[in-house]
Parts: sequence; C-alpha cells; structure tokens
Amino acid sequence: MKESYITTAIPYVNGNPHLGHAMDYLLADTLRRYMLYCGKKVRLQAGTDEHGNKIFKKAAEQGIPTQEFVDINAQKFQDFIHSLGVDYTDFIRTTSPDHERRCQEIWTKLSDHIYKDKYEGWYCEGCESYVTDKEHDDNHSECPDHKKPYIKLSEENYYLSIADFKDEIRDAIESDELKITPAFRKKEFLNLLKNMPDVSISRPKEQVEWGVSVPNDDSQVMYVWIDALANYITVLGYPDNDISKDWPAHTQIVGKDILRFHAGIWPAMLLGLGLPLPRNLLAHGFITVNGEKMSKSVGNVIPPEDILAKHGLAAFRYFFLRHASTTEDSDFTWDKYEASYNELANDLGNLVQRLATLCKKNSIAGQKVKQRTNPNFDDRMERYEFNLAFDILWDGISELNKRIDAEKPWALAKSDPQKAKEVLTKLVADLLTINDRLKLFLPDVGETIEKIFTATEIQPPSTPLFPKN
Ligand code: MSP
Repeated sequence: MKESYITTAIPYVNGNPHLGHAMDYLLADTLRRYMLYCGKKVRLQAGTDEHGNKIFKKAAEQGIPTQEFVDINAQKFQDFIHSLGVDYTDFIRTTSPDHERRCQEIWTKLSDHIYKDKYEGWYCEGCESYVTDKEHDDNHSECPDHKKPYIKLSEENYYLSIADFKDEIRDAIESDELKITPAFRKKEFLNLLKNMPDVSISRPKEQVEWGVSVPNDDSQVMYVWIDALANYITVLGYPDNDISKDWPAHTQIVGKDILRFHAGIWPAMLLGLGLPLPRNLLAHGFITVNGEKMSKSVGNVIPPEDILAKHGLAAFRYFFLRHASTTEDSDFTWDKYEASYNELANDLGNLVQRLATLCKKNSIAGQKVKQRTNPNFDDRMERYEFNLAFDILWDGISELNKRIDAEKPWALAKSDPQKAKEVLTKLVADLLTINDRLKLFLPDVGETIEKIFTATEIQPPSTPLFPKN
C-alpha cells in the first residue's frame, strides 16, 4: 500500500515551543489518526529549522556555542510534541550532516534554474525573508510581526528562477492538482503569484555564517528557506533514495504566514527537480491571546505548559481541536478555556460516570465496539474542517445525554427491568461507536472510555475523568 505522507512546518529553534507550533502538531496528529482509522499507512514528519542569523545571534546572546544551543532547543521541541500526545515517524534537524549534504545535492540539481545577481533591498531577520519596497513603505520600515526595523541589504546573491515555473505552478493550483485549503487562501496566493519575482536563495558568508555552504562557492551560504523547505524530502532520503513510496505528500500543514513559501518557492524547487507537487497544502489560522497576536514584546505569550498543567492533555486537545477553527484565526483566553473544560466535564465526563454507574447497578456487561459509517463526519474531515467534524461527535454526545434524561433508565429499572437493560445496552453501543472517532481527537480519554465499556463488568471510573478543581 502506498503510504500517506503528512508534513508539519519545522519551527525555528531560537525560542521555546509556543501555542502556534502546537496547532501544526495537533492538526497533523488528527489527520494522521484519521488516515490510520481509514486503513492507510501514514508517515508523519516533524523537525526543527536550525540555521540562519537569528538563531546564531540568540546563541551568541546566551553565550552558548551555536550547535549546543540548537541541540538543546531541538530537544525541547521533541519533548513538546510528545507532551501533546503526538507521534511522528520521522524527525529532521536541518543541522544534521545528511540533511546538509542532501541540500547541496538538491542545489546542484537545480543549477539550470539558478543564477547570480545583485540584491538591493530590504530584509526582515525575524521572518528570515526579503521584503519588497512596497511592504517596507506600507509598514513604515518596521516588521509588524517582529516589531523590528527592516535591514537594508546590498549584496551578491544566487537566485532561483520562479519565472521558469510560474505557469506550471499557477495551473497546478488553479486546477487543484496542488490543492490549497482554505479556498480563500488559494485565491489570495494566486494573486500574489502574478507578481512573484525570482527569489534570492543565498547570502554572503560574511553576513550569515550559520548555514549550509553553496556548492562550489564557499563565499555563499544557502538562504534558510531553501534549506528548510528541502527538509520534506531530505527526511525521506532524497536524493539518495527513491522516495516515490511517500512522495508526493498527501498533506503539508503550515500556518497562514508561511503559505507563500510553500505554494511558491517550494513548488518551483520540486518542478526543477522533476518531482511531483504535493497534493494538498493546508494553511491553518493563527492563535491569538485575548484578541491580540502573541508576541514577546506585548508580553501576552502564554506558555503551552501552563495550559497543559491546568487541566491536562485532553482538555488542551479538546480546546484547540474543537474550539479553535482549523483554518481561521482563533482566540485563547483563560475564561474560554475554563468554559471549554466545564463543557468537557459536563457533557462527556458526566455521561461516562452516569452511564457506567447505571450499567453497574443493572449488571450490564461490556460489549464490542460496533463501527458504523458516518459520511457527514468523513466529509468534514476530508475538507480539513476538523473542528466541525468534532462538533458532529459532540452532537452525538449531547444526544446520548438527552436520551438518558428522557428514557430514565433508573426509573425503568424498577418498573420494567428488561426494558432498562435494553435502553442501557443501546446507550453503551452508541457511546462506543461515537468514542471510536473521538479517539482521533482525544486518544487517551477515548482509550479509557473504550476500556470501561468493553470490560466484562462495566465499572465507573474511580475518579471522574475530568475532576472539578
Ligand atoms: N522555520 C519556519 C518554517 C519552515 S517550514 C519549511 C517558520 N518557523 S516558525 O517557528 O516561525 O513557525 C512554525 C509554525 O508555527 C508555522 O506553521 C507558523 O505558521 C506557526 N505559527 C507561528 N505562530 C503562530 C500562531 N500564533 N498561531 C498559529 N500558528 C503560528 O516559520
């Protein structure tokens, strides 16, 4: 069976993992679990983007040798991903010798589309990105995201021709051969593509020393984005290995801010290498805090560990997968988080406790999970509307709560014990069916629920699934 390959953006390791990074991982994990559920084999890459000036400067600021600094931070990201209950199959670090060598081979293979020229213009070190004069003027010479002045650059660089591939890229995106979700971002990008210039893909070594050297030109270092984008295939072993088992990727997940790199530069690289384009690019929205962009300078960054510590992993996953939209921006506030936790405890926690207690009292045995099709759910998942798919499951949970209230099995147990058994058995069967998909979003809780209701003797959990504290 051909594997389905899912990728996540590789974060810069100049800081700690934050909520924005969590979004990449949770969405990728949900998709991975769904594909496994559908019987596919899945490969999920994660990794860290470890080159470039801002990382080099951060290490110097902290007085740590750069390699040591990136080693420490790459580990933090791996620990973070695990703390979210996410399992990747491959982890790539851009400072690994294999990746660096493969990047150089990729560069050489692209050489027909690479030329040297002078670059004069603006650059944002925070974004590690060149800035047009218009952007520079519109933003009054300061990056709105990083609140840092743009730097004026005047240097010799190598360029990758976008012009050579523009028509092919546009056609692929227009026809959804390379499908961008959500559709409004596809439109936005197609507009941007019209005037997309060739991209500078190297920097002089005297400006940036922490990077991969350009083959046959020791004075130049690869621009971080070329090195970073290549990760999606170097991790598969390209060009040493035949990657056709995994490539093209089924879905590449990125935040909305970096879609343009993935829909513009990356396809140009792939076409230049004679490789197929990924089938889907999913651009998720941003997480804001109290309505504002998270930023160190505003001082509103909430470390994900604080949120995890509050009510545990299931509450974290529940909030960010159900109450954060997959494709739009979503806001985190502690009040919303508390409300979301109460909902989880009241709707699901109480249902499990009540139903298991009633089953125990009426000696209802556990049963096997019955899988049933759910086309509405599949439809939402296939459109990458994960939060709406999650809503469908929650409607099912609410429905079960209503049924318990309406059918009153505790009263039936006195008047018609046989009927009470039937009602409870049916409720358990339906909960197990819903839970089978709930596990895609809340794997640990889903496992616990499955254990309770498939056990020979159903027992309520000794402590509530979601304690009030
Ligand atoms: N290193 C590049 C990506 C290279 S991929 C070949 C980068 N790193 S990043 O650390 O700035 O961002 C990593 C991911 O986190 C991106 O998908 C980015 O969009 C996402 N987010 C960063 N801040 C975010 C929010 N506030 N909210 C949601 N996601 C955001 O870009």
